[in-house]
Amino acid sequence: MSDDESRASAREMAARSLASGDDTGWFEALYSAAAEGRAIVPWADLAANPDLVERVRPGSGSAVVVGCGLGDDAEYLASLGWKVTAFDVSPSAVEQARARFGGSSVDYVVADLLAPPAGWAFDLVVEIYTVQVLTAGARRAAIANTAALVAPGGTLLVIARARADDESEGLMPWPLTRGEMESFADGGLRPVTIADFLDGEDPPVRRWHGEFRRD
Ligand SMILES: C[S@@+](CC[C@H](N)C(=O)[O-])C[C@H]1O[C@@H](n2cnc3c(N)ncnc32)[C@H](O)[C@@H]1O
Repeated sequence: MSDDESRASAREMAARSLASGDDTGWFEALYSAAAEGRAIVPWADLAANPDLVERVRPGSGSAVVVGCGLGDDAEYLASLGWKVTAFDVSPSAVEQARARFGGSSVDYVVADLLAPPAGWAFDLVVEIYTVQVLTAGARRAAIANTAALVAPGGTLLVIARARADDESEGLMPWPLTRGEMESFADGGLRPVTIADFLDGEDPPVRRWHGEFRRD
C-alpha cells in the first residue's frame, strides 16, 4: 500500500467514524487493522519526531506524551532522563508500543484526552499531531485538556501542521490556525513561542512549534 493509499484509507475511516458521531473510534479501527496487516498507519514512521528532537532538552521531572501512538517520542524523552507517561485512546496502539519497547521505563496508558484521568499534572507535556486529527468540539476540548495537564512551573510543547486563517482546512490531518495555537494559553499558560516553520520533508510541510509555560 502506498503512502497516498494509506492516507486515503485512514481518511475514509475518519469520515465514517465522524459521520456516526464518534470523534475517536477510527483510531482503534486503524491501529487494530494495521496490527492484522489490513492497513498502514500513515503517521507511524517509527522514529522520534525530528522537531521534538531539535527542541526538547534533558530533564528529570515528569513528562506526558499525548496521543503517543507507537511510542517513539515517549522513548526519546525517557532516554533524556524524563519520567514518562504516554497515553493513547487506542488500546491497540498502546499494546503495540508496550510490545515494541519491552522493559521500557515509560508508563504506557490507555486514556482519552477528551476525558483525562483526574489529577494528572506533568512538568513537561508534549503534544504532537493529536489535535490536528480531531474536529469541532473535540478539537477545542483537546486543546483545553492538553493545556490543563501542565503542572505549575511546567512546560507544554506543541508541534502541529499549520495553515493561514484564510486557507481551507483541507483533508485530514486538518492543520491548526494561529488562533488555535494561541488558544493553548487560554487556561492560564504563558506563550513563550508560537512560530511556524517549513519542515524537512519533500515537499516541505508548514508546521507550528509552540512552547507555553505555567508560571
Ligand atoms: C496523528 S496521530 C499522531 C501520533 C504521534 N503523536 C505521532 O506524532 O506520531 C494522533 C494520535 O492521537 C491519538 N488520539 C486521538 N484522539 C485521542 C484522544 N482523544 N485521546 C488520546 N489519544 C488520542 C490517536 O490514536 C493517534 O495515535
